[in-house]
Amino acid sequence: MSTDIDIVDATLRHGDRTVVDRLSLSIPAGQILVVTGPSGCGKSTLLRAIAGLRPIDEGTISVGGHRVTGTSGDRAMVFQDDALHPWRTVRRNIALALGLRGVPRGERRAETDRWISEIGLDEFADHLPRELSGGMRQRVQLARGLAGAPRAVLMDEPFGALDAQTRTSMQQLLIRTLHAHPATVVFVTHDVDEAVLLGDRIVVLDHAGAGVRRIVDVPRPRVDSVENRAARDEAAAALVGGDQIREKVPA
Ligand SMILES: Nc1ncnc2c1ncn2[C@@H]1O[C@H](COP(=O)(O)OP(=O)(O)OP(=O)(O)O)[C@@H](O)[C@H]1O
Ligand SMILES: [Mg+2]
Repeated sequence: MSTDIDIVDATLRHGDRTVVDRLSLSIPAGQILVVTGPSGCGKSTLLRAIAGLRPIDEGTISVGGHRVTGTSGDRAMVFQDDALHPWRTVRRNIALALGLRGVPRGERRAETDRWISEIGLDEFADHLPRELSGGMRQRVQLARGLAGAPRAVLMDEPFGALDAQTRTSMQQLLIRTLHAHPATVVFVTHDVDEAVLLGDRIVVLDHAGAGVRRIVDVPRPRVDSVENRAARDEAAAALVGGDQIREKVPA
């Protein structure tokens, strides 16, 4: 399978401080890479760099063979905080994303309605974000992120603020939606159960500037299988006990 997101020796700094130091990772098309690690280790910084929302100080990041130099309709970002346009209805938030990704005007209405049905919000199509619950707003964000078939979707703790039950249903919705609309995903979470449920691979980052602690492959991605338990335990151990098992960053 072709590599869709290719991070080669990427270094990201905030001022003088190196947050991501010569990171190299390849994410094949259609895979979900989960990134986890301690607070402040650089997960959001890395996602923003892939999105083209901040510069890459050294090295390169390419998506679909094209070097990232700025934002593009090819890449969508889904945040934890509600980043919907507050003055636009559900329908107009989703239609805007379709427009930005080049869906012709004549097709937008029908496609928007399909997305609204997929996320189960037919009755709320003409509501404003403030008239929805947090879970409903995240469903709109998910639809908005995936609408218009972006090549890559960058998700920064998208379900982190939701209650456990809503979170579980959002995870299932994401799996179903990606099945119908494949994209390459980089998903940031602090929750190791979420990581093993969603990911093909889990990267556990070390503290800012210290590289990768562990890369764990999930044996049976998105299947509830006992074989995944060892991967979960390995990622959890790396997350809590990283200083004992710190590994060198792959070159
Ligand atoms: N705009 C900024 N200016 C200066 N420093 C920043 C900026 N954004 C982030 N940092 C610093 O870079 C480091 C990495 O931040 P980042 O937000 O990427 O971490 P994170 O892994 O996403 O953390 P969390 O899990 O808490 O969301 C932190 O030390 C943070 O203080
Ligand atoms: Mg963050």
